Amino acid sequence: MKSIIITVLVISLISFVLALLLTLADKYIADYGEVTLKINDKDPVTVPGGNSLLSTLRDQKVFIPSACGGKGSCGYCKVKVLKGGGPVLATEKPWLSNEEMESHTRLSCQLKVKENIEIEIPEELFNVKEYDTKVVNIEDVTDRIKKITFELPEGEEIKFKPGQYMQLKAPEYEGNDEEVYRAYSIASSAKDKRHIELLIGFTGGIATTYVHKFLKVGDTVNLNGPYGDFYYKDDDGEKMVFVATGTGFAPIRSILYHMKDNDIKREAVFIFGSKTTKDLFLLDELKMFEDSLNFKFMPVLSRVTDEMNWKGDTGHVDDSIRKHLINGEKYACYLCGSPRVIDSTVAALKEKGVSEDKIFYDKFE
Ligand SMILES: Cc1cc2nc3c(=O)[nH]c(=O)nc-3n(C[C@H](O)[C@H](O)[C@H](O)COP(=O)(O)OP(=O)(O)OC[C@H]3O[C@@H](n4cnc5c(N)ncnc54)[C@H](O)[C@@H]3O)c2cc1C
Ligand code: FES
Repeated sequence: MKSIIITVLVISLISFVLALLLTLADKYIADYGEVTLKINDKDPVTVPGGNSLLSTLRDQKVFIPSACGGKGSCGYCKVKVLKGGGPVLATEKPWLSNEEMESHTRLSCQLKVKENIEIEIPEELFNVKEYDTKVVNIEDVTDRIKKITFELPEGEEIKFKPGQYMQLKAPEYEGNDEEVYRAYSIASSAKDKRHIELLIGFTGGIATTYVHKFLKVGDTVNLNGPYGDFYYKDDDGEKMVFVATGTGFAPIRSILYHMKDNDIKREAVFIFGSKTTKDLFLLDELKMFEDSLNFKFMPVLSRVTDEMNWKGDTGHVDDSIRKHLINGEKYACYLCGSPRVIDSTVAALKEKGVSEDKIFYDKFE
Protein backbone atom coordinates (compact mmCIF):
# COMPACT_ATOMS: atom_id res chain seq x y z
CA MET A 1 0.00 0.00 0.00
CA LYS A 2 2.79 2.38 1.07
CA SER A 3 4.69 1.76 -2.19
CA ILE A 4 1.54 2.50 -4.25
CA ILE A 5 1.09 5.86 -2.48
CA ILE A 6 4.79 6.73 -3.01
CA THR A 7 4.55 5.79 -6.73
CA VAL A 8 1.41 7.95 -7.18
CA LEU A 9 3.11 10.87 -5.39
CA VAL A 10 6.30 10.57 -7.50
CA ILE A 11 4.30 10.40 -10.78
CA SER A 12 2.21 13.44 -9.70
CA LEU A 13 5.37 15.37 -8.82
CA ILE A 14 7.05 14.54 -12.15
CA SER A 15 3.87 15.56 -14.07
CA PHE A 16 3.69 18.82 -12.12
CA VAL A 17 7.37 19.65 -12.78
CA LEU A 18 7.00 18.82 -16.50
CA ALA A 19 3.86 20.99 -16.79
CA LEU A 20 5.66 23.83 -14.99
CA LEU A 21 8.70 23.53 -17.29
CA LEU A 22 6.46 23.55 -20.39
CA THR A 23 4.62 26.64 -19.13
CA LEU A 24 7.88 28.47 -18.34
CA ALA A 25 9.41 27.45 -21.68
CA ASP A 26 6.28 28.66 -23.49
CA LYS A 27 6.38 31.94 -21.63
CA TYR A 28 10.09 32.78 -21.77
CA ILE A 29 11.63 30.82 -24.66
CA ALA A 30 8.94 30.22 -27.29
CA ASP A 31 8.88 32.83 -30.03
CA TYR A 32 5.82 32.71 -32.27
CA GLY A 33 6.95 35.66 -34.38
CA GLU A 34 4.28 37.54 -36.26
CA VAL A 35 0.96 36.04 -37.31
CA THR A 36 -2.15 37.37 -39.04
CA LEU A 37 -5.49 38.02 -37.38
CA LYS A 38 -8.65 38.16 -39.49
CA ILE A 39 -11.89 39.37 -37.84
CA ASN A 40 -15.21 38.77 -39.62
CA ASP A 41 -14.92 39.96 -43.22
CA LYS A 42 -12.25 42.59 -42.50
CA ASP A 43 -8.75 42.52 -44.00
CA PRO A 44 -6.23 40.48 -41.97
CA VAL A 45 -3.82 42.46 -39.76
CA THR A 46 -0.35 41.41 -38.60
CA VAL A 47 0.01 40.94 -34.83
CA PRO A 48 2.72 39.53 -32.54
CA GLY A 49 2.16 35.84 -31.74
CA GLY A 50 2.26 34.36 -28.24
CA ASN A 51 -0.33 36.48 -26.42
CA SER A 52 -3.86 35.52 -25.48
CA LEU A 53 -6.49 36.17 -28.13
CA LEU A 54 -8.26 38.48 -25.64
CA SER A 55 -5.21 40.74 -25.16
CA THR A 56 -4.29 40.54 -28.87
CA LEU A 57 -7.78 41.86 -29.69
CA ARG A 58 -7.51 44.52 -26.99
CA ASP A 59 -4.24 45.74 -28.57
CA GLN A 60 -6.21 46.11 -31.81
CA LYS A 61 -8.83 48.17 -29.88
CA VAL A 62 -11.37 45.37 -30.21
CA PHE A 63 -12.91 44.81 -26.78
CA ILE A 64 -14.50 41.50 -25.80
CA PRO A 65 -16.52 41.24 -22.55
CA SER A 66 -14.15 39.85 -19.92
CA ALA A 67 -15.71 40.40 -16.52
CA CYS A 68 -13.06 38.39 -14.65
CA GLY A 69 -10.26 40.18 -16.49
CA GLY A 70 -8.92 37.04 -18.18
CA LYS A 71 -8.76 34.65 -15.21
CA GLY A 72 -10.95 32.08 -16.97
CA SER A 73 -13.59 32.34 -14.27
CA CYS A 74 -16.48 34.27 -15.86
CA GLY A 75 -17.00 32.61 -19.26
CA TYR A 76 -17.87 35.99 -20.85
CA CYS A 77 -15.04 36.23 -23.40
CA LYS A 78 -16.37 33.76 -25.97
CA VAL A 79 -15.57 34.22 -29.67
CA LYS A 80 -15.90 31.92 -32.67
CA VAL A 81 -12.52 30.75 -33.95
CA LEU A 82 -12.86 29.62 -37.54
CA LYS A 83 -9.18 28.82 -38.16
CA GLY A 84 -5.94 28.57 -36.20
CA GLY A 85 -7.12 28.19 -32.58
CA GLY A 86 -5.54 24.81 -31.81
CA PRO A 87 -7.30 22.26 -29.57
CA VAL A 88 -9.82 23.35 -26.90
CA LEU A 89 -8.04 23.61 -23.52
CA ALA A 90 -9.13 21.99 -20.27
CA THR A 91 -9.60 25.47 -18.75
CA GLU A 92 -12.16 26.34 -21.46
CA LYS A 93 -14.28 23.18 -21.33
CA PRO A 94 -16.32 23.98 -18.17
CA TRP A 95 -17.65 27.12 -19.91
CA LEU A 96 -18.54 25.64 -23.29
CA SER A 97 -21.68 23.67 -24.14
CA ASN A 98 -21.55 20.86 -26.70
CA GLU A 99 -23.21 23.14 -29.29
CA GLU A 100 -20.64 25.87 -28.62
CA MET A 101 -17.75 23.43 -29.06
CA GLU A 102 -19.29 22.18 -32.30
CA SER A 103 -19.61 25.76 -33.56
CA HIS A 104 -15.92 26.43 -32.69
CA THR A 105 -16.63 28.83 -29.81
CA ARG A 106 -13.60 29.44 -27.58
CA LEU A 107 -12.66 31.41 -24.46
CA SER A 108 -10.48 34.18 -25.86
CA CYS A 109 -8.62 34.74 -22.59
CA GLN A 110 -7.36 31.14 -22.52
CA LEU A 111 -6.46 30.65 -26.17
CA LYS A 112 -2.95 31.73 -27.14
CA VAL A 113 -2.41 33.13 -30.65
CA LYS A 114 0.39 30.95 -32.04
CA GLU A 115 -0.48 30.85 -35.76
CA ASN A 116 -2.55 32.77 -38.33
CA ILE A 117 -6.05 32.97 -36.92
CA GLU A 118 -9.55 33.78 -38.21
CA ILE A 119 -12.35 34.70 -35.86
CA GLU A 120 -15.96 35.87 -35.88
CA ILE A 121 -17.43 38.30 -33.33
CA PRO A 122 -20.82 40.05 -33.08
CA GLU A 123 -20.76 43.32 -35.09
CA GLU A 124 -22.00 45.28 -32.03
CA LEU A 125 -18.63 44.71 -30.32
CA PHE A 126 -17.09 47.13 -32.82
CA ASN A 127 -19.12 49.85 -31.04
CA VAL A 128 -17.34 49.16 -27.75
CA LYS A 129 -14.75 51.87 -27.15
CA GLU A 130 -12.21 52.77 -24.50
CA TYR A 131 -12.18 56.13 -22.78
CA ASP A 132 -9.48 57.78 -20.67
CA THR A 133 -11.91 59.35 -18.21
CA LYS A 134 -11.28 61.86 -15.43
CA VAL A 135 -12.60 61.20 -11.93
CA VAL A 136 -14.70 64.26 -11.06
CA ASN A 137 -16.43 63.09 -7.87
CA ILE A 138 -16.07 60.38 -5.22
CA GLU A 139 -18.76 59.95 -2.60
CA ASP A 140 -19.08 57.39 0.22
CA VAL A 141 -22.68 56.20 0.05
CA THR A 142 -22.08 53.58 2.79
CA ASP A 143 -18.92 52.63 4.67
CA ARG A 144 -18.19 50.00 1.97
CA ILE A 145 -19.65 51.50 -1.23
CA LYS A 146 -18.39 54.52 -3.19
CA LYS A 147 -20.25 56.35 -5.94
CA ILE A 148 -17.70 57.56 -8.47
CA THR A 149 -18.35 59.98 -11.33
CA PHE A 150 -16.13 59.75 -14.42
CA GLU A 151 -16.05 62.45 -17.10
CA LEU A 152 -15.34 61.45 -20.70
CA PRO A 153 -12.53 63.19 -22.62
CA GLU A 154 -13.46 66.52 -24.24
CA GLY A 155 -15.66 66.02 -27.31
CA GLU A 156 -16.40 62.32 -26.62
CA GLU A 157 -19.79 60.80 -25.81
CA ILE A 158 -21.04 57.33 -24.86
CA LYS A 159 -24.28 55.67 -25.87
CA PHE A 160 -25.44 52.78 -23.68
CA LYS A 161 -28.60 50.94 -22.72
CA PRO A 162 -29.73 51.32 -19.08
CA GLY A 163 -28.53 48.17 -17.27
CA GLN A 164 -25.30 47.63 -19.27
CA TYR A 165 -21.83 47.60 -17.75
CA MET A 166 -18.33 49.02 -18.35
CA GLN A 167 -14.93 47.49 -17.69
CA LEU A 168 -12.53 49.43 -15.53
CA LYS A 169 -8.76 49.00 -15.84
CA ALA A 170 -7.12 48.93 -12.42
CA PRO A 171 -3.42 49.74 -12.91
CA GLU A 172 -0.49 48.45 -10.86
CA TYR A 173 -0.22 50.05 -7.43
CA GLU A 174 1.78 49.55 -4.24
CA GLY A 175 1.26 45.92 -3.24
CA ASN A 176 -0.16 44.90 -6.63
CA ASP A 177 1.99 44.33 -9.72
CA GLU A 178 -0.86 43.20 -11.96
CA GLU A 179 -2.99 45.34 -14.28
CA VAL A 180 -6.57 43.98 -14.23
CA TYR A 181 -9.94 44.66 -15.84
CA ARG A 182 -13.18 44.33 -13.85
CA ALA A 183 -16.85 44.79 -14.80
CA TYR A 184 -18.99 47.54 -13.19
CA SER A 185 -22.62 48.27 -14.05
CA ILE A 186 -23.37 51.81 -15.14
CA ALA A 187 -25.43 53.42 -12.38
CA SER A 188 -26.25 56.71 -14.10
CA SER A 189 -28.73 58.06 -16.63
CA ALA A 190 -28.11 57.20 -20.29
CA LYS A 191 -29.26 60.77 -21.06
CA ASP A 192 -25.95 62.16 -19.75
CA LYS A 193 -23.59 60.98 -22.49
CA ARG A 194 -20.55 62.79 -21.03
CA HIS A 195 -20.48 61.17 -17.57
CA ILE A 196 -20.63 57.70 -16.11
CA GLU A 197 -21.37 56.89 -12.48
CA LEU A 198 -20.38 53.58 -10.91
CA LEU A 199 -21.21 52.16 -7.47
CA ILE A 200 -18.17 50.18 -6.36
CA GLY A 201 -18.22 48.05 -3.21
CA PHE A 202 -15.05 47.14 -1.29
CA THR A 203 -14.21 43.41 -1.36
CA GLY A 204 -10.50 43.54 -0.55
CA GLY A 205 -9.68 42.33 -4.08
CA ILE A 206 -7.36 43.99 -6.62
CA ALA A 207 -9.68 46.47 -8.36
CA THR A 208 -11.74 47.48 -5.34
CA THR A 209 -8.59 48.08 -3.24
CA TYR A 210 -7.35 50.38 -6.03
CA VAL A 211 -10.69 52.23 -6.12
CA HIS A 212 -11.21 52.46 -2.35
CA LYS A 213 -7.62 53.04 -1.18
CA PHE A 214 -5.84 54.81 -4.05
CA LEU A 215 -8.28 56.56 -6.42
CA LYS A 216 -8.58 60.37 -6.10
CA VAL A 217 -10.59 63.11 -7.75
CA GLY A 218 -8.60 64.31 -10.79
CA ASP A 219 -7.12 60.86 -11.58
CA THR A 220 -7.39 59.39 -15.08
CA VAL A 221 -9.14 56.01 -15.30
CA ASN A 222 -9.41 53.83 -18.39
CA LEU A 223 -12.94 52.48 -18.96
CA ASN A 224 -14.15 50.39 -21.88
CA GLY A 225 -17.68 49.45 -22.87
CA PRO A 226 -20.63 49.36 -22.92
CA TYR A 227 -21.30 45.63 -22.66
CA GLY A 228 -24.04 43.19 -21.79
CA ASP A 229 -27.52 42.03 -22.66
CA PHE A 230 -28.98 42.89 -19.25
CA TYR A 231 -30.87 46.10 -20.01
CA TYR A 232 -34.34 47.62 -19.80
CA LYS A 233 -36.84 46.50 -22.43
CA ASP A 234 -40.03 48.48 -23.01
CA ASP A 235 -42.21 45.65 -24.16
CA ASP A 236 -41.44 42.77 -21.79
CA GLY A 237 -44.57 42.83 -19.63
CA GLU A 238 -47.09 44.88 -17.78
CA LYS A 239 -45.45 45.31 -14.37
CA MET A 240 -41.86 45.14 -13.16
CA VAL A 241 -40.00 43.77 -10.16
CA PHE A 242 -36.44 44.88 -9.53
CA VAL A 243 -34.43 42.82 -7.04
CA ALA A 244 -30.92 43.70 -5.84
CA THR A 245 -28.52 43.57 -2.93
CA GLY A 246 -25.59 45.95 -2.29
CA THR A 247 -24.03 47.38 -5.45
CA GLY A 248 -26.60 45.42 -7.49
CA PHE A 249 -28.55 48.67 -7.08
CA ALA A 250 -26.30 50.19 -9.81
CA PRO A 251 -28.02 49.00 -13.03
CA ILE A 252 -31.47 49.37 -11.42
CA ARG A 253 -30.63 53.03 -10.69
CA SER A 254 -29.75 53.56 -14.36
CA ILE A 255 -33.06 51.94 -15.39
CA LEU A 256 -35.02 54.11 -12.92
CA TYR A 257 -33.37 57.26 -14.35
CA HIS A 258 -34.29 56.05 -17.85
CA MET A 259 -37.93 55.65 -16.74
CA LYS A 260 -37.91 59.13 -15.20
CA ASP A 261 -36.21 60.76 -18.20
CA ASN A 262 -38.77 59.18 -20.53
CA ASP A 263 -41.83 59.52 -18.26
CA ILE A 264 -42.40 55.73 -18.21
CA LYS A 265 -45.15 54.99 -15.69
CA ARG A 266 -45.15 51.16 -15.67
CA GLU A 267 -45.91 49.79 -12.22
CA ALA A 268 -42.60 48.82 -10.61
CA VAL A 269 -41.47 47.58 -7.22
CA PHE A 270 -37.84 47.39 -6.04
CA ILE A 271 -37.07 44.71 -3.43
CA PHE A 272 -33.66 45.58 -2.00
CA GLY A 273 -31.89 43.25 0.45
CA SER A 274 -29.54 44.58 3.15
CA LYS A 275 -28.24 43.40 6.48
CA THR A 276 -29.11 46.49 8.53
CA THR A 277 -30.44 50.05 8.04
CA LYS A 278 -26.78 51.21 7.81
CA ASP A 279 -26.47 49.36 4.46
CA LEU A 280 -29.35 51.26 2.83
CA PHE A 281 -28.22 54.13 0.63
CA LEU A 282 -29.33 56.87 -1.79
CA LEU A 283 -32.69 56.88 0.00
CA ASP A 284 -33.48 60.48 -1.04
CA GLU A 285 -33.17 59.48 -4.68
CA LEU A 286 -35.38 56.45 -4.16
CA LYS A 287 -38.01 58.72 -2.56
CA MET A 288 -37.72 61.01 -5.60
CA PHE A 289 -38.41 58.01 -7.89
CA GLU A 290 -41.39 57.03 -5.70
CA ASP A 291 -42.79 60.57 -6.06
CA SER A 292 -42.28 60.83 -9.81
CA LEU A 293 -42.89 57.26 -11.08
CA ASN A 294 -45.43 54.48 -10.43
CA PHE A 295 -42.73 52.94 -8.23
CA LYS A 296 -42.36 51.53 -4.72
CA PHE A 297 -39.10 50.87 -2.84
CA MET A 298 -39.29 47.85 -0.50
CA PRO A 299 -36.12 47.25 1.54
CA VAL A 300 -35.81 43.92 3.39
CA LEU A 301 -33.35 43.54 6.27
CA SER A 302 -31.74 40.30 7.43
CA ARG A 303 -30.21 41.52 10.74
CA VAL A 304 -32.80 43.60 12.57
CA THR A 305 -32.23 44.77 16.16
CA ASP A 306 -34.74 46.45 18.50
CA GLU A 307 -32.90 49.81 18.30
CA MET A 308 -33.62 49.98 14.55
CA ASN A 309 -37.36 50.17 15.21
CA TRP A 310 -37.76 48.56 11.78
CA LYS A 311 -41.30 48.34 10.39
CA GLY A 312 -40.47 46.86 6.96
CA ASP A 313 -39.86 43.30 5.77
CA THR A 314 -37.32 41.07 7.51
CA GLY A 315 -35.43 38.11 6.04
CA HIS A 316 -34.08 37.87 2.50
CA VAL A 317 -35.25 39.12 -0.91
CA ASP A 318 -36.78 35.74 -1.84
CA ASP A 319 -38.87 35.83 1.39
CA SER A 320 -40.31 39.21 0.32
CA ILE A 321 -41.11 37.88 -3.16
CA ARG A 322 -42.95 34.91 -1.66
CA LYS A 323 -44.82 37.26 0.71
CA HIS A 324 -45.91 39.99 -1.72
CA LEU A 325 -45.91 38.85 -5.33
CA ILE A 326 -49.25 37.80 -6.79
CA ASN A 327 -50.09 37.18 -10.46
CA GLY A 328 -46.47 36.45 -11.34
CA GLU A 329 -47.35 36.02 -15.01
CA LYS A 330 -47.83 39.81 -15.34
CA TYR A 331 -44.26 40.63 -14.31
CA ALA A 332 -40.91 41.20 -15.97
CA CYS A 333 -38.12 40.89 -13.40
CA TYR A 334 -34.66 42.48 -13.35
CA LEU A 335 -32.25 41.01 -10.80
CA CYS A 336 -28.74 42.00 -9.85
CA GLY A 337 -26.37 40.79 -7.16
CA SER A 338 -24.34 37.78 -6.05
CA PRO A 339 -24.94 34.39 -7.74
CA ARG A 340 -26.45 33.04 -4.47
CA VAL A 341 -29.02 35.85 -4.28
CA ILE A 342 -29.90 35.54 -7.98
CA ASP A 343 -30.41 31.75 -7.75
CA SER A 344 -32.71 31.97 -4.70
CA THR A 345 -34.64 34.86 -6.27
CA VAL A 346 -35.15 33.06 -9.58
CA ALA A 347 -36.52 30.03 -7.66
CA ALA A 348 -39.00 32.23 -5.72
CA LEU A 349 -40.12 34.07 -8.89
CA LYS A 350 -40.75 30.79 -10.70
CA GLU A 351 -42.82 29.53 -7.75
CA LYS A 352 -44.93 32.68 -8.14
CA GLY A 353 -45.59 31.93 -11.81
CA VAL A 354 -43.15 34.37 -13.43
CA SER A 355 -42.21 33.04 -16.83
CA GLU A 356 -38.51 32.14 -17.19
CA ASP A 357 -38.12 34.32 -20.30
CA LYS A 358 -39.25 37.36 -18.27
CA ILE A 359 -36.46 37.00 -15.71
CA PHE A 360 -33.32 38.98 -16.59
CA TYR A 361 -30.23 39.10 -14.43
CA ASP A 362 -26.57 40.06 -14.06
CA LYS A 363 -24.60 37.94 -11.62
CA PHE A 364 -21.79 39.93 -9.99
CA GLU A 365 -19.26 37.06 -9.89
C1 LIG B 1 -21.62 42.12 -15.17
C2 LIG B 1 -21.00 42.50 -13.86
C3 LIG B 1 -21.30 43.74 -13.29
C4 LIG B 1 -20.73 44.10 -12.06
N1 LIG B 1 -21.06 45.30 -11.51
C5 LIG B 1 -20.54 45.66 -10.31
C6 LIG B 1 -20.91 46.92 -9.71
O1 LIG B 1 -21.69 47.70 -10.25
N2 LIG B 1 -20.33 47.22 -8.52
C7 LIG B 1 -19.44 46.38 -7.88
O2 LIG B 1 -18.95 46.74 -6.81
N3 LIG B 1 -19.11 45.17 -8.44
C8 LIG B 1 -19.61 44.81 -9.63
N4 LIG B 1 -19.25 43.61 -10.21
C9 LIG B 1 -18.19 42.80 -9.54
C10 LIG B 1 -16.80 43.32 -10.00
O3 LIG B 1 -16.62 43.05 -11.38
C11 LIG B 1 -15.62 42.66 -9.27
O4 LIG B 1 -15.73 41.27 -9.34
C12 LIG B 1 -15.52 43.06 -7.81
O5 LIG B 1 -15.46 44.48 -7.69
C13 LIG B 1 -14.26 42.46 -7.15
O6 LIG B 1 -13.13 42.85 -7.88
P1 LIG B 1 -11.68 42.83 -7.22
O7 LIG B 1 -10.68 43.00 -8.32
O8 LIG B 1 -11.63 43.83 -6.11
O9 LIG B 1 -11.61 41.40 -6.57
P2 LIG B 1 -10.71 40.15 -7.09
O10 LIG B 1 -9.29 40.52 -7.02
O11 LIG B 1 -11.26 39.70 -8.40
O12 LIG B 1 -11.07 39.07 -6.00
C14 LIG B 1 -10.34 38.96 -4.80
C15 LIG B 1 -11.06 38.19 -3.75
O13 LIG B 1 -12.25 38.85 -3.38
C16 LIG B 1 -13.35 37.97 -3.47
N5 LIG B 1 -14.48 38.72 -4.00
C17 LIG B 1 -14.57 39.22 -5.24
N6 LIG B 1 -15.78 39.84 -5.41
C18 LIG B 1 -16.42 39.72 -4.22
C19 LIG B 1 -17.68 40.17 -3.76
N7 LIG B 1 -18.51 40.86 -4.55
N8 LIG B 1 -18.02 39.90 -2.47
C20 LIG B 1 -17.18 39.22 -1.68
N9 LIG B 1 -15.96 38.77 -2.06
C21 LIG B 1 -15.60 39.01 -3.32
C22 LIG B 1 -12.96 36.88 -4.44
O14 LIG B 1 -13.61 35.66 -4.13
C23 LIG B 1 -11.48 36.80 -4.22
O15 LIG B 1 -11.18 35.90 -3.22
C24 LIG B 1 -19.82 43.22 -11.41
C25 LIG B 1 -19.52 41.97 -11.98
C26 LIG B 1 -20.11 41.61 -13.18
C27 LIG B 1 -19.79 40.27 -13.77
S1 FES C 1 -12.32 36.82 -19.37
FE1 FES C 1 -13.41 35.72 -17.88
S2 FES C 1 -13.32 33.69 -18.67
FE2 FES C 1 -12.23 34.84 -20.12
